[in-house]
Amino acid sequence: MRVIMLGPPGAGKGTQGDRIASRYGVPHISSGELFRDEVARQTDTGKTLQRYLDAGDLVPDDLVLSLIMDRVLAAEAEGGYVLDGFPRTVPQAQAAAKVAREANMSAQAVLYLEVPPEVLADRLADRGEGRADDSAQVARHRLEVFTEHTRPLLDYYTQRGIIVRIDASPPVDEVSAAIFAALDRLED
Ligand code: AP5
Repeated sequence: MRVIMLGPPGAGKGTQGDRIASRYGVPHISSGELFRDEVARQTDTGKTLQRYLDAGDLVPDDLVLSLIMDRVLAAEAEGGYVLDGFPRTVPQAQAAAKVAREANMSAQAVLYLEVPPEVLADRLADRGEGRADDSAQVARHRLEVFTEHTRPLLDYYTQRGIIVRIDASPPVDEVSAAIFAALDRLED
């Protein structure tokens, strides 16, 4: 199973990514988690990443690709992947698609998790773990960044015929059921 999850901040990519990973036995690769781990370890790269994460800005494409592509390629040996937060720009998607094609591990489906903006703001404000980038101001900026840089991926993947739109505003279990129904069809 090789799946990409696309959606605005708070859409439920992390939540559903965990569930997809355990149901289909593939690694859940979250670019945001990977970057937050690096920040926590206070490596030089972590210090660079922190500036972007704190501001809610995108990490530059070259740095993202250098940090994540090896992990994606290694996932082949583990049965595939569910990608969460990557690719996030058209150049990232193009670069990832080229490498994946050469490794014969192109994505089978892209799940687009749709949630109205007002619901997203409430979810991020209510998030228990209190992430530094969940303040109202940074969360608003993250949503603008999504609209400008990531939403165009919807057209990119629609043209490739692999987009699956999921209404991600209902409760978590209902969203999972809709996702599993779509992914089970891929396995038939
Ligand atoms: P990242 O960690 O990817 O953050 P994000 O996309 O902003 O997404 P979130 O983690 O906030 O939300 P989510 O969709 O995963 O929802 P979740 O399941 O957590 O990226 C962080 C930063 O890293 C970026 O701003 C950027 O700086 C950088 N970055 C990362 N990848 C990058 C890339 N490829 N290129 C460049 N920069 C990159 O749910 C949110 C909350 O809602 C939780 O509390 C959850 O319990 C709740 N919830 C979830 N689903 C439901 C539901 N159905 N009903 C009710 N509540 C729900």
